Amino acid sequence: MRERTIFLLILVTLALIGAGVLAAIGLDLMPEAAADRAQAVDQLFRIMIGVATVVFLLVEGALVYAVLRFRVKEDDQSSGPPVHDNVSLELVWTLIPAIIVVVIGVYSFRVLSAIEVTAEDEMVVEVVARQFTWEFRYPEYDNLSSSQLHLVVGRPVRFEITSEDVIHSFYIPAFRAKRDATPGQISELVVTPTELGHYPIRCAELCGAAHATMLAEAVVESEADFDAWVANIASLPDDPTDAGRFVFEKYGCGACHSLEDMGTTSTVGPDMNGLGQVAGERVADLSAEEYIRQSVLNPSAHLVEGFADGLMPQDFDQRMTDAELNVLVAYLLNQ
Ligand code: CUA
Repeated sequence: MRERTIFLLILVTLALIGAGVLAAIGLDLMPEAAADRAQAVDQLFRIMIGVATVVFLLVEGALVYAVLRFRVKEDDQSSGPPVHDNVSLELVWTLIPAIIVVVIGVYSFRVLSAIEVTAEDEMVVEVVARQFTWEFRYPEYDNLSSSQLHLVVGRPVRFEITSEDVIHSFYIPAFRAKRDATPGQISELVVTPTELGHYPIRCAELCGAAHATMLAEAVVESEADFDAWVANIASLPDDPTDAGRFVFEKYGCGACHSLEDMGTTSTVGPDMNGLGQVAGERVADLSAEEYIRQSVLNPSAHLVEGFADGLMPQDFDQRMTDAELNVLVAYLLNQ
């Protein structure tokens, strides 16, 4: 009987370890990695998944076993035996979790200090979060500003992250990089992108009605492509429609407004389709053009029924150049 119990215990232990290893190796929960820090982060993540799987199966397994094995028999009205304490059992279930937590904690700190290294030739990108867009500024490139993040493959980048309203969180899953964007504070994050491609940027902190649409894209490209982008974005396209699309994209209008021409479908803010037709009738004595212009610069001036005040950024009068505002208004008039 005793031999059988030992044999069973060994079998269960092996099964638990096997399940943990399988979960650690087999579960692919993260997207393909595209930055230098990804390997260390993924390894830590997989080890944690493995440990968590073993603990989960052990605890839930013991629970289910106890419920089935020791459930009350019919007609048995007696109380259970009066167990007072069991020092060795309590030591085991306190010490083992404590050791696991300490080991994982030390390992996590080692990974953290290994990935948070500064580099000599790093490029600084200022990340400004606001409800519900991302703005990326490049101080080295004449303070160029964009709603799309462009990076050079292999060149370290230091993000200086802040927010202009509530707390957001800057998250690029493919880079395994995430940091809170906190108002009145600049948080730093150093990453080296290692793979060419387009990677989604998300907001990882619930920040308001359009949190889920607070998306952007990181484009990792060659140095030549990056330089071409810098040269290109500094000037507005010549074609008026292209220029309008460019400004609409640059300021992230599509996060909240649907516009067929741009392929955006968000319903957080008023629909921009057909705006040219209705803009002139919204407010008495106000031309369509003037209505659109005022609505961009001062979103609280004329609220569309059904939409709350304060959702749209109030600072386009400071951020948008006159030329950008003019092409945007002309573009929206044509919708
Ligand atoms: Cu910004 Cu969620």
